[in-house]
Amino acid sequence: MTYEEIVSDDHKYIMQTYGRYPVAFARGEGAHLWDVNGKEYVDLLAGIAVTGLGHCNPELVEVLTEQANRLWHVSNLVYTQPQVELARKLVGTTEHMSRCFFCNSGAEANETLIKLARRYMTRVRGREEAVDIITLSGCFHGRTFGALAATGRDSLADGFKPLPAGFKQVEAGNIEAMAKAIDDKTCAVLLEAVQGEGGVIVLDEDYVRAVEKLCRERDVLFCCDEVQAGMCRSGRFWAYQTCGVRPDIISMAKALANGLPMGGVMATEEVSKGFVAGSHGTTFGAGLLASAVASRVVDIMQRDRLDERAERLGNRIMDRARAFMNAHPGTIREVRGKGLFIGIELPHSAREIWASLLEAGYLCNLCHETTLRLLPPLVIAEKDVDAFMDALEARLLKG
Ligand SMILES: Cc1ncc(COP(=O)(O)O)c(C=O)c1O
Repeated sequence: MTYEEIVSDDHKYIMQTYGRYPVAFARGEGAHLWDVNGKEYVDLLAGIAVTGLGHCNPELVEVLTEQANRLWHVSNLVYTQPQVELARKLVGTTEHMSRCFFCNSGAEANETLIKLARRYMTRVRGREEAVDIITLSGCFHGRTFGALAATGRDSLADGFKPLPAGFKQVEAGNIEAMAKAIDDKTCAVLLEAVQGEGGVIVLDEDYVRAVEKLCRERDVLFCCDEVQAGMCRSGRFWAYQTCGVRPDIISMAKALANGLPMGGVMATEEVSKGFVAGSHGTTFGAGLLASAVASRVVDIMQRDRLDERAERLGNRIMDRARAFMNAHPGTIREVRGKGLFIGIELPHSAREIWASLLEAGYLCNLCHETTLRLLPPLVIAEKDVDAFMDALEARLLKG
Protein backbone atom coordinates (compact mmCIF):
# COMPACT_ATOMS: atom_id res chain seq x y z
CA MET A 1 0.00 0.00 0.00
CA THR A 2 1.13 3.58 -0.60
CA TYR A 3 1.49 6.03 2.28
CA GLU A 4 -1.66 7.84 1.11
CA GLU A 5 -3.67 4.58 1.01
CA ILE A 6 -2.55 3.64 4.52
CA VAL A 7 -3.50 7.08 5.90
CA SER A 8 -6.85 6.96 4.13
CA ASP A 9 -7.71 3.51 5.55
CA ASP A 10 -6.47 4.53 9.01
CA HIS A 11 -8.82 7.50 8.95
CA LYS A 12 -11.65 5.26 7.75
CA TYR A 13 -11.22 2.08 9.84
CA ILE A 14 -9.26 3.03 12.97
CA MET A 15 -10.75 4.91 15.94
CA GLN A 16 -9.02 8.25 15.83
CA THR A 17 -7.37 8.33 19.25
CA TYR A 18 -3.85 9.18 18.07
CA GLY A 19 -2.38 12.35 16.59
CA ARG A 20 -0.04 10.42 14.31
CA TYR A 21 3.25 11.56 12.78
CA PRO A 22 3.09 11.87 8.96
CA VAL A 23 5.00 8.68 8.22
CA ALA A 24 4.33 4.95 7.79
CA PHE A 25 7.23 2.62 8.54
CA ALA A 26 7.70 -0.69 6.80
CA ARG A 27 11.05 -2.04 7.99
CA GLY A 28 13.63 -1.61 10.72
CA GLU A 29 17.14 -2.72 11.57
CA GLY A 30 18.96 -1.67 14.73
CA ALA A 31 18.43 2.06 15.17
CA HIS A 32 17.31 2.56 11.57
CA LEU A 33 13.84 2.59 10.03
CA TRP A 34 12.61 2.68 6.46
CA ASP A 35 9.24 4.13 5.47
CA VAL A 36 6.94 2.66 2.84
CA ASN A 37 8.70 4.73 0.16
CA GLY A 38 12.08 3.31 1.14
CA LYS A 39 13.32 6.50 2.85
CA GLU A 40 15.72 5.83 5.73
CA TYR A 41 15.41 7.34 9.23
CA VAL A 42 17.53 7.32 12.38
CA ASP A 43 15.30 6.19 15.23
CA LEU A 44 15.62 8.28 18.40
CA LEU A 45 12.22 7.16 19.72
CA ALA A 46 12.53 3.35 19.92
CA GLY A 47 8.74 2.98 19.80
CA ILE A 48 8.57 5.17 22.95
CA ALA A 49 11.34 3.45 24.92
CA VAL A 50 10.39 -0.06 23.78
CA THR A 51 12.90 -1.37 21.24
CA GLY A 52 15.93 -0.87 23.47
CA LEU A 53 17.94 -3.51 21.62
CA GLY A 54 16.99 -2.10 18.22
CA HIS A 55 14.62 -3.29 15.52
CA CYS A 56 14.77 -6.93 14.45
CA ASN A 57 17.71 -7.64 16.76
CA PRO A 58 19.15 -10.86 15.22
CA GLU A 59 19.58 -12.62 18.59
CA LEU A 60 15.96 -11.86 19.49
CA VAL A 61 14.71 -12.91 16.04
CA GLU A 62 16.52 -16.21 16.56
CA VAL A 63 15.06 -16.88 20.01
CA LEU A 64 11.58 -15.76 18.87
CA THR A 65 11.70 -18.01 15.79
CA GLU A 66 12.92 -20.97 17.81
CA GLN A 67 10.15 -20.48 20.40
CA ALA A 68 7.54 -19.90 17.67
CA ASN A 69 8.40 -23.31 16.25
CA ARG A 70 8.17 -24.96 19.68
CA LEU A 71 5.17 -23.60 21.67
CA TRP A 72 3.26 -20.29 21.81
CA HIS A 73 0.63 -20.38 24.53
CA VAL A 74 -0.60 -22.80 27.14
CA SER A 75 -2.13 -20.54 29.86
CA ASN A 76 -1.09 -19.82 33.42
CA LEU A 77 -2.88 -22.98 34.58
CA VAL A 78 0.42 -24.78 33.93
CA TYR A 79 4.15 -24.20 34.52
CA THR A 80 6.50 -23.04 31.75
CA GLN A 81 10.27 -22.77 31.65
CA PRO A 82 10.60 -19.37 29.85
CA GLN A 83 8.42 -17.66 32.48
CA VAL A 84 10.43 -18.87 35.49
CA GLU A 85 13.74 -18.23 33.73
CA LEU A 86 12.71 -14.65 33.05
CA ALA A 87 11.57 -14.10 36.63
CA ARG A 88 14.82 -15.51 38.03
CA LYS A 89 16.88 -13.24 35.78
CA LEU A 90 14.83 -10.14 36.63
CA VAL A 91 15.11 -10.82 40.36
CA GLY A 92 18.87 -11.01 39.74
CA THR A 93 18.91 -7.43 38.41
CA THR A 94 17.85 -6.12 41.84
CA GLU A 95 19.41 -6.16 45.28
CA HIS A 96 16.33 -7.09 47.21
CA MET A 97 13.38 -8.20 45.07
CA SER A 98 12.11 -11.77 45.22
CA ARG A 99 9.09 -12.39 43.00
CA CYS A 100 7.47 -11.32 39.71
CA PHE A 101 3.99 -11.27 38.26
CA PHE A 102 3.69 -10.85 34.48
CA CYS A 103 0.99 -9.16 32.41
CA ASN A 104 0.84 -7.40 29.05
CA SER A 105 1.35 -3.63 29.27
CA GLY A 106 2.48 -0.76 31.45
CA ALA A 107 -1.03 0.21 32.51
CA GLU A 108 -1.78 -3.37 33.47
CA ALA A 109 1.51 -3.52 35.38
CA ASN A 110 0.43 -0.49 37.43
CA GLU A 111 -3.04 -1.96 38.02
CA THR A 112 -1.24 -5.03 39.36
CA LEU A 113 1.04 -2.88 41.52
CA ILE A 114 -1.94 -1.02 43.00
CA LYS A 115 -3.83 -4.26 43.67
CA LEU A 116 -0.78 -5.90 45.26
CA ALA A 117 -0.10 -2.88 47.49
CA ARG A 118 -3.71 -2.70 48.67
CA ARG A 119 -4.09 -6.42 49.21
CA TYR A 120 -0.82 -6.62 51.15
CA MET A 121 -1.86 -3.77 53.45
CA THR A 122 -5.43 -4.91 54.00
CA ARG A 123 -5.03 -8.70 54.10
CA VAL A 124 -1.46 -9.36 55.26
CA ARG A 125 -1.08 -6.37 57.58
CA GLY A 126 -4.74 -6.22 58.51
CA ARG A 127 -4.83 -2.45 57.96
CA GLU A 128 -8.29 -2.28 56.36
CA GLU A 129 -8.21 1.53 56.15
CA ALA A 130 -4.81 1.79 54.36
CA VAL A 131 -5.97 1.87 50.73
CA ASP A 132 -4.94 5.27 49.35
CA ILE A 133 -2.23 5.53 46.71
CA ILE A 134 -0.28 8.81 46.58
CA THR A 135 1.23 9.87 43.24
CA LEU A 136 3.09 13.00 42.05
CA SER A 137 2.09 15.93 39.85
CA GLY A 138 3.37 15.38 36.29
CA CYS A 139 3.17 11.59 36.59
CA PHE A 140 1.83 9.14 34.04
CA HIS A 141 0.85 5.62 34.97
CA GLY A 142 -1.44 4.53 32.11
CA ARG A 143 -4.93 4.68 30.63
CA THR A 144 -6.89 1.97 32.43
CA PHE A 145 -9.20 3.16 35.20
CA GLY A 146 -6.91 2.58 38.19
CA ALA A 147 -3.85 3.85 36.34
CA LEU A 148 -5.84 6.85 35.08
CA ALA A 149 -6.93 7.67 38.63
CA ALA A 150 -3.30 7.38 39.72
CA THR A 151 -2.24 9.67 36.87
CA GLY A 152 -4.77 12.21 38.08
CA ARG A 153 -4.74 14.36 34.96
CA ASP A 154 -8.13 15.86 34.18
CA SER A 155 -7.50 16.16 30.44
CA LEU A 156 -6.95 12.39 30.20
CA ALA A 157 -10.01 11.60 32.31
CA ASP A 158 -12.38 13.76 30.25
CA GLY A 159 -15.63 11.87 29.69
CA PHE A 160 -14.52 8.80 31.65
CA LYS A 161 -15.55 9.72 35.19
CA PRO A 162 -16.22 8.42 37.75
CA LEU A 163 -12.71 7.12 38.31
CA PRO A 164 -11.99 4.72 41.18
CA ALA A 165 -11.57 6.34 44.60
CA GLY A 166 -8.47 6.07 46.79
CA PHE A 167 -5.95 8.19 44.90
CA LYS A 168 -4.26 11.40 46.01
CA GLN A 169 -1.73 13.54 44.23
CA VAL A 170 0.94 15.85 45.67
CA GLU A 171 3.39 18.28 44.11
CA ALA A 172 6.53 16.50 42.82
CA GLY A 173 9.68 17.57 44.67
CA ASN A 174 7.78 19.00 47.67
CA ILE A 175 8.66 16.75 50.62
CA GLU A 176 6.56 18.79 53.09
CA ALA A 177 3.49 18.21 50.91
CA MET A 178 4.25 14.49 50.91
CA ALA A 179 4.73 14.43 54.68
CA LYS A 180 1.35 16.15 55.07
CA ALA A 181 -0.44 13.90 52.58
CA ILE A 182 0.59 10.59 54.17
CA ASP A 183 -1.92 9.56 56.83
CA ASP A 184 -3.47 6.42 58.32
CA LYS A 185 -5.38 5.81 55.08
CA THR A 186 -2.23 5.76 52.95
CA CYS A 187 -1.30 2.42 51.44
CA ALA A 188 1.58 3.36 49.11
CA VAL A 189 3.47 6.11 47.34
CA LEU A 190 4.06 5.52 43.63
CA LEU A 191 6.60 7.58 41.65
CA GLU A 192 8.70 7.59 38.48
CA ALA A 193 12.37 8.49 39.14
CA VAL A 194 12.24 10.15 35.70
CA GLN A 195 8.81 11.32 34.57
CA GLY A 196 8.67 10.50 30.88
CA GLU A 197 5.24 11.60 29.70
CA GLY A 198 5.57 14.54 32.09
CA GLY A 199 8.30 15.92 29.80
CA VAL A 200 11.44 14.10 31.03
CA ILE A 201 11.34 15.54 34.54
CA VAL A 202 14.18 14.05 36.59
CA LEU A 203 13.20 13.81 40.26
CA ASP A 204 15.88 15.06 42.62
CA GLU A 205 17.66 12.01 44.07
CA ASP A 206 17.63 13.46 47.60
CA TYR A 207 13.87 13.97 47.26
CA VAL A 208 13.34 10.34 46.17
CA ARG A 209 15.41 9.14 49.15
CA ALA A 210 13.43 11.45 51.47
CA VAL A 211 10.15 10.03 50.16
CA GLU A 212 11.41 6.50 50.78
CA LYS A 213 12.46 7.47 54.32
CA LEU A 214 9.02 8.97 55.00
CA CYS A 215 7.38 5.79 53.72
CA ARG A 216 9.49 3.69 56.10
CA GLU A 217 8.76 5.98 59.06
CA ARG A 218 5.02 6.02 58.38
CA ASP A 219 4.70 2.33 57.47
CA VAL A 220 3.63 3.00 53.89
CA LEU A 221 4.79 1.06 50.80
CA PHE A 222 7.31 2.77 48.54
CA CYS A 223 6.75 1.88 44.87
CA CYS A 224 8.40 2.88 41.59
CA ASP A 225 6.94 2.91 38.09
CA GLU A 226 9.83 1.66 35.92
CA VAL A 227 7.71 1.22 32.80
CA GLN A 228 9.55 3.86 30.76
CA ALA A 229 12.74 4.49 32.78
CA GLY A 230 13.59 0.86 33.53
CA MET A 231 15.59 -1.73 31.57
CA CYS A 232 18.94 0.14 31.43
CA ARG A 233 17.63 3.38 29.91
CA SER A 234 18.49 5.55 32.92
CA GLY A 235 22.10 4.39 33.13
CA ARG A 236 21.31 1.67 35.69
CA PHE A 237 19.22 -1.45 35.12
CA TRP A 238 16.38 0.21 37.05
CA ALA A 239 16.01 3.98 37.45
CA TYR A 240 15.39 3.61 41.21
CA GLN A 241 18.99 2.36 41.46
CA THR A 242 20.24 5.81 40.39
CA CYS A 243 18.66 7.15 43.61
CA GLY A 244 19.95 4.50 46.02
CA VAL A 245 16.48 3.46 47.20
CA ARG A 246 14.86 0.04 47.62
CA PRO A 247 11.23 0.05 46.51
CA ASP A 248 8.77 -2.54 47.82
CA ILE A 249 7.20 -2.97 44.38
CA ILE A 250 8.17 -1.84 40.86
CA SER A 251 6.15 -1.97 37.67
CA MET A 252 7.81 -2.66 34.30
CA ALA A 253 6.82 -3.02 30.63
CA LYS A 254 7.92 -1.27 27.41
CA ALA A 255 11.51 -2.52 26.78
CA LEU A 256 10.98 -5.79 28.63
CA ALA A 257 10.31 -7.88 25.50
CA ASN A 258 11.70 -5.35 22.98
CA GLY A 259 8.34 -4.82 21.27
CA LEU A 260 6.33 -7.92 22.11
CA PRO A 261 3.62 -6.81 24.57
CA MET A 262 4.73 -7.60 28.09
CA GLY A 263 4.49 -5.97 31.50
CA GLY A 264 4.91 -7.02 35.06
CA VAL A 265 5.65 -6.19 38.65
CA MET A 266 8.46 -7.27 40.91
CA ALA A 267 8.21 -7.13 44.69
CA THR A 268 9.99 -8.07 47.89
CA GLU A 269 9.29 -11.46 49.48
CA GLU A 270 7.27 -9.78 52.22
CA VAL A 271 4.99 -7.70 49.95
CA SER A 272 4.56 -10.61 47.52
CA LYS A 273 2.58 -12.30 50.30
CA GLY A 274 -0.20 -9.89 49.31
CA PHE A 275 -1.14 -12.18 46.40
CA VAL A 276 -2.38 -15.72 46.93
CA ALA A 277 -3.91 -18.20 44.47
CA GLY A 278 -6.88 -16.51 42.84
CA SER A 279 -6.00 -12.94 43.89
CA HIS A 280 -4.96 -11.86 40.42
CA GLY A 281 -4.45 -13.35 36.98
CA THR A 282 -4.32 -12.90 33.23
CA THR A 283 -4.68 -15.13 30.18
CA PHE A 284 -1.79 -13.83 28.11
CA GLY A 285 0.68 -12.75 30.83
CA ALA A 286 4.13 -14.28 30.36
CA GLY A 287 3.19 -16.17 27.21
CA LEU A 288 6.05 -18.27 25.91
CA LEU A 289 6.99 -16.00 23.00
CA ALA A 290 7.21 -12.83 25.12
CA SER A 291 8.92 -14.62 28.00
CA ALA A 292 11.57 -16.26 25.81
CA VAL A 293 12.37 -12.94 24.15
CA ALA A 294 12.37 -10.95 27.42
CA SER A 295 14.65 -13.53 28.99
CA ARG A 296 17.18 -12.99 26.20
CA VAL A 297 16.70 -9.19 26.46
CA VAL A 298 17.87 -9.32 30.08
CA ASP A 299 20.86 -11.51 29.10
CA ILE A 300 21.94 -9.13 26.34
CA MET A 301 21.49 -6.01 28.45
CA GLN A 302 23.71 -7.47 31.17
CA ARG A 303 26.27 -9.05 28.81
CA ASP A 304 26.72 -5.85 26.81
CA ARG A 305 26.56 -3.54 29.87
CA LEU A 306 23.88 -1.44 28.19
CA ASP A 307 23.25 0.44 31.44
CA GLU A 308 26.80 1.79 31.30
CA ARG A 309 26.49 2.50 27.59
CA ALA A 310 23.25 4.43 28.17
CA GLU A 311 24.96 6.52 30.84
CA ARG A 312 28.03 7.23 28.70
CA LEU A 313 26.15 8.03 25.50
CA GLY A 314 23.46 9.97 27.34
CA ASN A 315 26.07 12.15 29.03
CA ARG A 316 27.72 12.73 25.67
CA ILE A 317 24.42 13.97 24.19
CA MET A 318 23.52 16.10 27.22
CA ASP A 319 27.03 17.59 27.52
CA ARG A 320 26.96 18.57 23.86
CA ALA A 321 23.45 20.03 24.10
CA ARG A 322 24.37 22.02 27.24
CA ALA A 323 27.57 23.33 25.63
CA PHE A 324 25.50 24.46 22.64
CA MET A 325 22.91 26.05 24.93
CA ASN A 326 25.63 28.03 26.72
CA ALA A 327 27.34 29.07 23.49
CA HIS A 328 24.05 30.16 21.91
CA PRO A 329 21.83 31.69 24.57
CA GLY A 330 18.12 31.61 23.76
CA THR A 331 18.26 28.49 21.57
CA ILE A 332 17.61 25.90 24.31
CA ARG A 333 15.88 26.54 27.64
CA GLU A 334 16.94 23.38 29.47
CA VAL A 335 18.53 19.98 28.93
CA ARG A 336 17.22 17.29 31.28
CA GLY A 337 17.71 13.56 31.55
CA LYS A 338 19.35 10.45 32.86
CA GLY A 339 21.14 8.05 30.53
CA LEU A 340 19.44 7.75 27.17
CA PHE A 341 16.26 9.35 28.52
CA ILE A 342 16.66 12.98 27.49
CA GLY A 343 14.50 16.07 27.14
CA ILE A 344 15.70 19.15 25.29
CA GLU A 345 13.31 21.98 26.09
CA LEU A 346 13.20 25.00 23.82
CA PRO A 347 12.07 28.48 24.90
CA HIS A 348 9.28 28.25 22.29
CA SER A 349 7.30 25.62 20.39
CA ALA A 350 9.59 22.85 19.14
CA ARG A 351 7.06 21.69 16.56
CA GLU A 352 8.71 23.21 13.48
CA ILE A 353 12.15 21.92 14.38
CA TRP A 354 10.73 18.49 15.25
CA ALA A 355 8.90 18.35 11.87
CA SER A 356 11.99 19.47 10.00
CA LEU A 357 14.09 16.78 11.74
CA LEU A 358 11.52 14.16 10.74
CA GLU A 359 11.62 15.42 7.16
CA ALA A 360 15.42 15.09 7.28
CA GLY A 361 15.15 11.48 8.51
CA TYR A 362 15.44 11.83 12.32
CA LEU A 363 12.57 10.42 14.39
CA CYS A 364 12.17 11.78 17.91
CA ASN A 365 9.23 12.76 20.11
CA LEU A 366 7.62 16.15 20.53
CA CYS A 367 6.50 16.32 24.14
CA HIS A 368 4.31 19.06 25.64
CA GLU A 369 4.92 21.21 22.52
CA THR A 370 8.24 22.68 23.72
CA THR A 371 10.33 19.59 24.51
CA LEU A 372 12.14 17.21 22.17
CA ARG A 373 12.22 13.85 23.94
CA LEU A 374 15.00 11.47 22.93
CA LEU A 375 14.57 7.76 23.73
CA PRO A 376 16.91 6.09 21.24
CA PRO A 377 17.58 2.36 21.16
CA LEU A 378 20.33 1.66 23.71
CA VAL A 379 22.40 0.21 20.84
CA ILE A 380 22.30 3.31 18.64
CA ALA A 381 25.68 4.07 16.98
CA GLU A 382 27.58 7.14 18.15
CA LYS A 383 27.75 8.40 14.57
CA ASP A 384 23.94 8.37 14.35
CA VAL A 385 23.68 10.36 17.56
CA ASP A 386 26.29 12.84 16.32
CA ALA A 387 24.48 13.23 12.98
CA PHE A 388 21.24 13.93 14.85
CA MET A 389 22.93 16.54 17.04
CA ASP A 390 24.45 18.20 13.93
CA ALA A 391 20.99 18.35 12.34
CA LEU A 392 19.39 19.68 15.54
CA GLU A 393 22.01 22.36 16.10
CA ALA A 394 21.79 23.55 12.48
CA ARG A 395 18.04 24.04 12.93
CA LEU A 396 18.37 25.71 16.34
CA LEU A 397 20.84 28.21 14.84
CA LYS A 398 18.39 29.06 12.05
CA GLY A 399 15.79 29.75 14.79
C1 LIG B 1 5.82 5.59 33.32
C2 LIG B 1 4.73 4.91 32.54
N1 LIG B 1 3.86 4.11 33.17
C3 LIG B 1 2.86 3.49 32.52
C4 LIG B 1 2.70 3.65 31.16
C5 LIG B 1 1.59 2.93 30.45
O1 LIG B 1 2.11 1.92 29.66
P1 LIG B 1 1.23 1.26 28.49
O2 LIG B 1 1.10 2.29 27.43
O3 LIG B 1 2.04 0.05 28.07
O4 LIG B 1 -0.08 0.87 29.10
C6 LIG B 1 3.58 4.48 30.46
C7 LIG B 1 3.39 4.70 29.01
O5 LIG B 1 3.93 5.60 28.42
C8 LIG B 1 4.62 5.13 31.16
O6 LIG B 1 5.47 5.94 30.54
